[in-house]
Amino acid sequence: MSSANPTQDSPFLAALRGQEVSRTPVWYMRQAGRSLPEYLKVREGVGMLESCMDADLITEITLQPVRRYGVDAAIFFSDIVLPLKAVGVDLDIKPGVGPVVANPVRTLEDVAAIPDLTPEHVGFITQAVRNLVAELGPTPLIGFAGAPFTVASYLVEGGPSKEHARTKAMMFGAPDVWDALLRKIGGIAAAFLQVQVDAGASAVQLFDSWAGALTPADYAEHVMPHSARVLAAAGELGVPRIHFGVGTSNLLDLMGEAGADVVGVDWRTPLERGIAMVGDRGVQGNLDPTLVFAPTEVMLARAAEVIEAGRAAKGHVFNLGHGVLPSTDPAQLQRLTEFVQTYPLTPRG
Ligand code: CP3
Repeated sequence: MSSANPTQDSPFLAALRGQEVSRTPVWYMRQAGRSLPEYLKVREGVGMLESCMDADLITEITLQPVRRYGVDAAIFFSDIVLPLKAVGVDLDIKPGVGPVVANPVRTLEDVAAIPDLTPEHVGFITQAVRNLVAELGPTPLIGFAGAPFTVASYLVEGGPSKEHARTKAMMFGAPDVWDALLRKIGGIAAAFLQVQVDAGASAVQLFDSWAGALTPADYAEHVMPHSARVLAAAGELGVPRIHFGVGTSNLLDLMGEAGADVVGVDWRTPLERGIAMVGDRGVQGNLDPTLVFAPTEVMLARAAEVIEAGRAAKGHVFNLGHGVLPSTDPAQLQRLTEFVQTYPLTPRG
């Protein structure tokens, strides 16, 4: 029937909503990208940000891992700093380094100089999402944005950072600038998610990759309210929300309370513990991304443990505990995908 929603039988969306599934759905963070020869081919001579601003390239790159692996969801190909680039912030993504910002943000004037995001800034995103939803049919598309803390770290440090020292110095020492900056970024993230959902994305993921640098108290006071606003805005659009970070074993409860339907658990935290912490929410994760380099039977045995552990959750989406590493052999991910998708969830006695 033409009026039927093509994603209505999606096991991925059912798991996000905490509904019963006949098998565990699976997708991978960074499933598109450097581990795929077809990605390297279409990216030849095209810069990373350039490829994120071309609707045809975004569409092709997003579809590549879906074609190859038959994963249960597509993740929109873009980057957490793309919306900043789109509103005019002078930045680049340097190969092997990551996002680099020409003029790091330090003052209220610096914050005020960053424009808010409107759909007109990102027409290529709307176009790419529309193309994708038409091509993907029953496979849902995940829209995403970077969370205020993680994006702030790039803007304040001017580039990637291990300690986030300048970022936290602003958080502790210049609360007015910090609050203005996180509000600004949060507004941009919410608008970026809305563009993707309005064009047809079925779920969203908020990436707070570096939130693990914070204590629970500092997260709760200085970061969580800003992430909560982004998640609330996405919730009003009616789509399920995934909230992910790395090294967040003592933040998972707060990341759930910030307004997530499903909390992403990185591989350092036993999934059982993550499930206990998030309470009445789903979880996503969390196979160690380096297990793809182990013998296949070792990888699959560990995947089985993750699937079994996930059964105690309100909903479980299988994923790696962080992104696919560039040196990953696609054949291993293919075997992993097949294994998860055919793993029998027989009733437990
Ligand atoms: O998951 C996906 O497949 C969708 C695409 C995606 C990319 N970046 C593409 C990308 C997503 C969801 C992101 C989010 C992102 N970007 C995060 C949060 C997720 C995480 O991994 O924790 C962060 C921290 C960034 C910032 C960023 N962008 C980094 C650290 C890098 C790596 C730099 C390097 O070369 O090592 C990027 C670049 C980037 N983003 C690449 C891809 C495929 C590699 C660039 C290339 O292929 O040339």
